[in-house]
Amino acid sequence: MTLDETKKADEMKKFPAGFLWGAATAAYQIEGAWNEDGKGESIWDRFSHTPGKVQDGDTGDVACDHYHRWPEDIKLMQQLGLGAYRFSISWPRIIPGGTGKVNEKGLDFYDRLVDGLLAANIEPYATLYHWDLPQALEDKGGWANRETAYAFAEYAEVVAKRLGDRVHNWITLNEPWVSAFLGYFYGLHAPGKKDPQAAFASAHHLLLGHGLAVPLIRAAGNTNTEVGITLNFSPTDPATEGEADKKAEAAEDGFLNRWFIEPIYNGAYPKEVAERLGGAPLPVQADDMKIISRPIDFLGVNYYFRTVVRDESATGGSRVANVKVENVERTEMGWEVYPTGLYNLLTRLHRDYVPGRLYITENGAAFQDTLGPDGKIADPRRQAFLHDHFAAAHRAIQEGVPLKGYFVWSMLDNFEWGYGYSKRFGIVHVDYDTLARTVKDSGHFYKNVIAANGIE
Ligand code: FCB
Repeated sequence: MTLDETKKADEMKKFPAGFLWGAATAAYQIEGAWNEDGKGESIWDRFSHTPGKVQDGDTGDVACDHYHRWPEDIKLMQQLGLGAYRFSISWPRIIPGGTGKVNEKGLDFYDRLVDGLLAANIEPYATLYHWDLPQALEDKGGWANRETAYAFAEYAEVVAKRLGDRVHNWITLNEPWVSAFLGYFYGLHAPGKKDPQAAFASAHHLLLGHGLAVPLIRAAGNTNTEVGITLNFSPTDPATEGEADKKAEAAEDGFLNRWFIEPIYNGAYPKEVAERLGGAPLPVQADDMKIISRPIDFLGVNYYFRTVVRDESATGGSRVANVKVENVERTEMGWEVYPTGLYNLLTRLHRDYVPGRLYITENGAAFQDTLGPDGKIADPRRQAFLHDHFAAAHRAIQEGVPLKGYFVWSMLDNFEWGYGYSKRFGIVHVDYDTLARTVKDSGHFYKNVIAANGIE
């Protein structure tokens, strides 16, 4: 090594040996093939096929056509040097009617995918539910119906029995907060309901489904089977140090960040939940909290942005108002770029809940990028975003947080839910006319990070 190279190596922020670098996707966002090989209709099929629900009328009917192009996608992952790939399994591909009859062709697809990943030396991290509930279950009340929790456990067992010999890391649910509140309260996601009671019941039944599935997944696996859940967090800061703002911040923190984690790690809902419910009871039955708080092996953390909170009740507004901070960098989603939030979040989760191990199961950014005449896609802002968030994670690890891996959202540009294809999160560009994939500069940057197991 030259002196310069030695100096560079010394200045590198190295991650622990064995740190897992990955990328994530979700079934509805990339697969397409929405009605092939016996797949049933999902709530996202129904929602996106309903005019006015998704921007530009976009649907996931074709998406990235990953259902047919997965071998090419695995090759790309290999080129980037990914150690792990987080994908989700489409419930209506496996059990089209929600319960009962299993569609073998659906299982076969994931079987091939998992074998392909393993052959490429990429560890599969499978999410069982990333929002595509079978429509047949929604027709009976969806997650607001307790039966859906049992149906989820039944489905989880079917999948784990088929793949559990090769998939060692399972994520039961992705962001149940979003399923319950964007789906049933704000109506922005499928099934598009605006029914507070249904939302609160859904929140509880999602957690119940998680808890019911945990032992079934373990039983279908082997000694190295690990089960976790992925939650979304938006760490809160008060707009000022005043008492009122701090109180408002604590309330919002309870709603955004503690509603789902406290039942899992403490076996009880935080008091802010009762306040938010305004006296309406949650449909908690005997033993539910025991089931929900069954020990898990890891916590999956999705982080995109922080939330700044102000109390506006003195001026006739709400007690909890989210403030749009001025003069900060924002992504195409309008989300503040705030890497410190990731550091704050990881250290807080470690301190307050002591999850044995953590993974960042999603972090990334939407920026518009265009294919240059040279065939390259320069996306310096995404690259800087990733770099700075890796640095925040590194700092947390240095301070003792047992963070074991990092999954960038997303491997591919894809269907961004209510925004359709208008927002691009990929480190690989997808041309939606030709479906051609092109690694963006941020993807090349990530490849170097992985190879060096660190950042400069
Ligand atoms: C998360 C979702 C993921 C993706 C990112 C941008 O909430 O889990 O599917 O849409 O946001």
